Amino acid sequence: MITDQHIPIMTNEILSFIYRKKNLSILDCTFGGGGHSKKFLEDGHFVTAIDQDDSSSIIANQLKKNFPNIFFYKNNFKNLDLLNLDTKKFNFILLDLGFSSNQLDDDSIGLSFKINSDLNMNYLGGDLNAHKIINYYNMDELKRVFYVYGEIKQAEKLAKFIINQRSIKKINTNFEFIEVLRESGVNFRSKKIHFATQAFQALRIESNNELENLEIFLKKVHDFLDNEAYLAIISFHSLEDRIVKNYFKDNKVKKNNIFQNNKDWGFEILTKKPLTPSKLELIENNRSRSAKLRVGKFIN
Ligand SMILES: C[S@@+](CC[C@H](N)C(=O)[O-])C[C@H]1O[C@@H](n2cnc3c(N)ncnc32)[C@H](O)[C@@H]1O
Repeated sequence: MITDQHIPIMTNEILSFIYRKKNLSILDCTFGGGGHSKKFLEDGHFVTAIDQDDSSSIIANQLKKNFPNIFFYKNNFKNLDLLNLDTKKFNFILLDLGFSSNQLDDDSIGLSFKINSDLNMNYLGGDLNAHKIINYYNMDELKRVFYVYGEIKQAEKLAKFIINQRSIKKINTNFEFIEVLRESGVNFRSKKIHFATQAFQALRIESNNELENLEIFLKKVHDFLDNEAYLAIISFHSLEDRIVKNYFKDNKVKKNNIFQNNKDWGFEILTKKPLTPSKLELIENNRSRSAKLRVGKFIN
């Protein structure tokens, strides 16, 4: 079912950067259920929105009935230079990475370890999915996915076990995969989290090319920022956050108009440490618990 019930994360923190500003051009690259976009529109800003998800385009159309100043593009944000966007330079660009609550609840995507579904995890419509990874990747590829994206120390042991299990019977569903994880004898970092979290994260990142999408986007985004515009990025795991942190560091302004990257543009870093949700937000929205927000002000 399509809903706009995704609760937007760190909205107050995001809006605080543009408090009292009027009529801004905002690019929301991860429209999702439209939570952040709706707040921007209610404050009178103009919103250009991108998302790969079909339900997002339906929600954007519904929103347009009350707020004509929204333009939606169904695409991958890594392609932002190919979209012929209605606006060329923006005052604020937002990335709220990962998947929405709608996608988490969608059993055809199968991102949840609480819902038994076919192994998939692809929420961006590409060709790769968790079933192909688990049943057809070779030893080295499996090891890479679990070690790099899941930060699982015993990735080799896990890869070997999976290859052995799938030679007996293909691993077809989330619950079958969880059973394999349970029987593998691998030590997962499971004190505070479900023991399958790292393995699910690894498959999701690989299935959707999450890190590559972000890296490609970051190589292009400066062309879309107006002078003194804000780039705000919410990430949900340390691999993403590291990419964002390094991006701002590598392109920071050193002094006056001298930039770390030796180009004629860069960022004043507005969040020396990433902002995290308030105690109240953590209570009200458990999904916000791993969110980290980094913001830079573009100078050129
Ligand atoms: C956390 S949700 C965003 C929620 C949104 N801010 C809201 O308030 O409703 C992330 C969204 O980004 C989309 N997404 C993630 N990676 C994407 C990519 N590379 N290209 C386009 N959309 C992407 C997902 O489809 C999902 O709808």
